[in-house]
Amino acid sequence: MSKNFYLTTPLYYVNDKPHLGTAYATISADSLARFHKLFGDETKLLTGTDEHGQKVEQAAKKRGVATQRHCDEMAENFKSVWNELNIDYDIFYRTTDEFHQKAVQKALQDLFDKGDIYKNSYEGWYSVSEEIFYTEKDLIDGKSPEGKEVTKVQETNYFFKMSEYQQRLIEHIEKNPEFIQPSTRRNEVLGFLKQPLNDLCISRPKERLSWGIPIPFDTDYVTYVWFDALLNYAVAQGFNREGMEGDFKKWWTEADVRHLIGKDILTPHAVYWSTMLLALEVPLPKQIFATGWILNKDQGKMSKSQGDILSPIELKKTFGLDPLRYLLVRDVHLGNDAPFSYEGAVLKINSELANNLGNLLSRSTNLVSKFFDGKKPAVGDLEASKSLKATAEVLPKKVEELVRAMKPSYALEQIVNFLSETNKYLEERAPWKLVKEDKETAGEVLANSLEALRIAATLLFPVMPDSMSELLKRIGFEKVDFELSKQWDVIPLHAQVTKADPLFPRLELKEE
Ligand code: MSP
Repeated sequence: MSKNFYLTTPLYYVNDKPHLGTAYATISADSLARFHKLFGDETKLLTGTDEHGQKVEQAAKKRGVATQRHCDEMAENFKSVWNELNIDYDIFYRTTDEFHQKAVQKALQDLFDKGDIYKNSYEGWYSVSEEIFYTEKDLIDGKSPEGKEVTKVQETNYFFKMSEYQQRLIEHIEKNPEFIQPSTRRNEVLGFLKQPLNDLCISRPKERLSWGIPIPFDTDYVTYVWFDALLNYAVAQGFNREGMEGDFKKWWTEADVRHLIGKDILTPHAVYWSTMLLALEVPLPKQIFATGWILNKDQGKMSKSQGDILSPIELKKTFGLDPLRYLLVRDVHLGNDAPFSYEGAVLKINSELANNLGNLLSRSTNLVSKFFDGKKPAVGDLEASKSLKATAEVLPKKVEELVRAMKPSYALEQIVNFLSETNKYLEERAPWKLVKEDKETAGEVLANSLEALRIAATLLFPVMPDSMSELLKRIGFEKVDFELSKQWDVIPLHAQVTKADPLFPRLELKEE
């Protein structure tokens, strides 16, 4: 049952280059979106850059370049890194694009006209690095709850009546258990909403912050970064844009809309964004899913301010792109924190890709080349293949269910188990020996393992598109087709099977 599937990553601040943490978020989203495409859903993936606010303005100043130029360069940098990581995004969204500014201004004007925005004096604390307002009682030892520096703000500002929508939001979360996930995050938000909600300060005076979208009903002010940036998800699909009503219906109102975000930005999404949508009378997304963090050596969040970031481009050079993508999807359960270590990465890649999958491929293709002239033998009707076929028969469905439940790491685990079973099957039948006494049966054993490889490669394609295309080419069947992954004996008889260098070379552990 496929539905239009619209998945978003957060928009990344352009004060920082992409690092392993942001690459993790983007690779996870890309793999999920590619899985949905494989399952036959019409799918769109959005990513992009969040370009307004004090943090970005300061970063540009520090580099000594004009702010817009800084944003243009950084956005290009993000695009080029995502291209290097084979991210197949459909929309790259930039909050300094003109249509975005207009759509945000329209939303502000509509809420103002409706009486949902009012002016008041504000006194509180602002964290530039999080771009978040705090009250005195939120602070812990004079810092934000996340331990960030705050500065005192005393100014007249505009407020969005977030509190008016608190009750409706609670009801929505209670009625829709899938809305905020994982469930620990859902409980966290419900806990937060037990307290009275303050209205949201959504402006900064222009003389304090010039790098923002002017408020249409008072141009002495610009709008708050979060109010501006969050709207991207809907504007990208036509919200508040003339002539795009059809797109908006298809890709928002009637779509399966999901936001994949980091747990550090749960409140802005679950509370600010949801109440904004309620006020704007726009349907809420189907799901806000908060991922955990990639941790550094000291178990803290890997981030620029911690000064220990890993470059995804360097990691690609060390491990290869597809092993890196695999590692991030396989080794981190979506929603949990996970440390990243060089040793752990080498061990995982060697055991699951170089050994399990890689050896199965090398053995099967080498033997077919050597004894069958590179032509795929007949599958036959071997009794011994029955249990392998039985596992294969349910595998695509299991993978689909797990991915749809946002559990891609468990889906990969199923595929790994299937490959182990195939290796065991090959080991036990030992076609390299059998070929001398019974060539026909040896051929059948090899043909069955090629079928298993085809199915596994199809299901692994969303995570490792380049290497799985290559694998399929080597076993004589290039089509990546989910429906065919549910069938056995699909590779044509005598298809060209090619042996080649290891698809996943073993990595040597280097002393650090
Ligand atoms: N601009 C806001 C989001 C606006 S969405 C409309 C923002 N940007 S960010 O660049 O600071 O972070 C973007 C995302 O990257 C967040 O979801 C954050 O959790 C994620 N990550 C940053 N470092 C990370 C790790 N070390 N590990 C996992 N994800 C990390 O917030």
